[in-house]
Amino acid sequence: MEATAGQAGKTKFQIDLRRYLREDGEDEQLIHLICEIAEASKYIINSIRTGDLGVAGTSNLYGEQQLALDVLSDRILRKRLAQSGVVSNVVSEETADIVFIAPHRTGNFSVAYDPLDGSSLVDVNLAVGTIVSIYRGCDLMQPGTKQVAALYILYGPRTTLVYTTGHGVHEFGMNQLMEYTLLRRNVRMEPKASIYAPGGLRSLYTPGTGKFVRQLESNGVKLRYSGGLVPDFNQILMKGKGVFFYPHLQNAPQGKLRLLFELNPMAFLMEQAGGAASNGRQRILDLVPQKFDERSPFFCGCRDDVAMAEACIREEG
Ligand code: F6P
Ligand code: MN
Repeated sequence: MEATAGQAGKTKFQIDLRRYLREDGEDEQLIHLICEIAEASKYIINSIRTGDLGVAGTSNLYGEQQLALDVLSDRILRKRLAQSGVVSNVVSEETADIVFIAPHRTGNFSVAYDPLDGSSLVDVNLAVGTIVSIYRGCDLMQPGTKQVAALYILYGPRTTLVYTTGHGVHEFGMNQLMEYTLLRRNVRMEPKASIYAPGGLRSLYTPGTGKFVRQLESNGVKLRYSGGLVPDFNQILMKGKGVFFYPHLQNAPQGKLRLLFELNPMAFLMEQAGGAASNGRQRILDLVPQKFDERSPFFCGCRDDVAMAEACIREEG
């Protein structure tokens, strides 16, 4: 714990991530893993700030062009996870397959991650993030309810790390010493949204999603969208009053976002804050993945608004 001079000369104590996790009663191996991911993020920040903004000349398993930054962030995180000594295998949004790290899968955890979500926003200087989902054991094809931890790191004007281990949602900020210290404990969602962040092309929405948007707007819910899942989701979570969605589209019945790398971790965080996450018909965390690059529609945020989305989608039949 470190004491710094706070406002009006008062001493303000900063609680760092490791200490907070210990006080939360987490097991030492999980603490080690989360702190290793936090360490890796410092190198990812550096590559975002100074790295090559060009394309890597390769594409990922979704056929999306990879940027040099995607590839670099992936390598930074994978190397750190591999050297952590507690990880059995990993799968990344940027790699084509599960990477077994520990011989004979002896590590305690498996990790699914999106190393640099929204990377195409870096060259226009908007916020991006890293998303991580952690399971115990070596099976990554489990429903999201089995996650033991989920977190994201948001690289905005400030860098923040938001995690859950199933005991609420806690936000940490990077300080001048590049340590993550506690900003807010037990972030909570209110029942009703005041902002919404919609992904996809509106002309391709199905009638249910169209109706949902009209209802939100007639309730005075305002549009707040940057185009990056992590900053858009973070705004909703930290304000406690919003709904994020990337729906099924007429030409993409599974939407765009990926269950293992994006939706499960965000759904776990949202539920732990008292919100909800659905594919329009079912709870996201109950979905059993059939393949690790599975996509799903996503409606996530205040409970009442997610229920309203489900009601509109149900009417579609
Ligand atoms: O990786 C997916 C992503 O970049 C998210 O960060 C974002 O929410 C979404 O795609 C935006 O997609 P679209 O441009 O289709 O709305
Ligand atoms: Mn992504």
